[in-house]
Amino acid sequence: MSGRIIDGKAVAQKVMAEITQGVERLKKEKRITPGLAAVLVGDNAASKIYVRNKRIACEKVGIYSIEKKLPGSTREEELLELINNLNLDPLIHGILIQLPLPPFLNTQKILSAVAPEKDVDGFHPINLGKLLAGNPEILPCTPLGVIRLLESISFDPAGKEAVVIGRSTIVGKPMAVLLLMRHATVTICHSKTKNLAEKIRQADLVVAAIGQSEFIKGDWIKPGAVVIDVGMNRRPDGSLVGDVEKSAGGKASFITPVPGGVGPMTIAMLLANTLEAARKQTS
Ligand code: GUN
Repeated sequence: MSGRIIDGKAVAQKVMAEITQGVERLKKEKRITPGLAAVLVGDNAASKIYVRNKRIACEKVGIYSIEKKLPGSTREEELLELINNLNLDPLIHGILIQLPLPPFLNTQKILSAVAPEKDVDGFHPINLGKLLAGNPEILPCTPLGVIRLLESISFDPAGKEAVVIGRSTIVGKPMAVLLLMRHATVTICHSKTKNLAEKIRQADLVVAAIGQSEFIKGDWIKPGAVVIDVGMNRRPDGSLVGDVEKSAGGKASFITPVPGGVGPMTIAMLLANTLEAARKQTS
């Protein structure tokens, strides 16, 4: 079997077209333009590219966006003051703190300073807690994007064996909860997991989010499984590869490409969260 490619770019474009309409409606009916502030501390090259891509995507759908770039030496109090000002700014409905922050800053403290209703990344403990309580309000963008990709191929997680590899707060943990809410049997694997290959061989759905080039081998994939590759790893030659070997496509029924799979969906869901936050804050 040769897996069909899930075209994340195409699905993201469809979502962006819906968001564009939603933004226009909000502008027309309430004279409100959704606004997003991206906060970037330091000069991590990958983070700069992410923030730029987010700004370009905002322009495409008509969302007002600002970037707050701060030097890597920024003190915690300065950053907290900036966040507080953004919390109070009526033109801003969504705030995103680009991660990772420099190591001397307390990431949890910084993320907790964002007003929960403006936390369009869904990283605030209140939003993560609501998700765990089964009452989600704002969901983290990457797992939400993965769910949209699964919907695009009419994959119903109910009763399926899902293996999530990676336990980050950004992807793995919320991903597992979203799949549980859709009645999958979920196994979360990580760097200390024993017999990873055996666990993946049982999986109807594999979501790989470990950040290691082609760590998951093609022959571990059960024939007909759906493979979602969240990985985005740069090789020494500059090319991008996922967490799953390309040969997995020969076993899977559906597989996401890298790039062009999950990546575009993460940004599309950020815009969706910003539009929804603007609607809620102005209703
Ligand atoms: N760094 C890596 N992924 C993300 C993300 O989804 N949001 C933010 N803010 N930072 C990230």
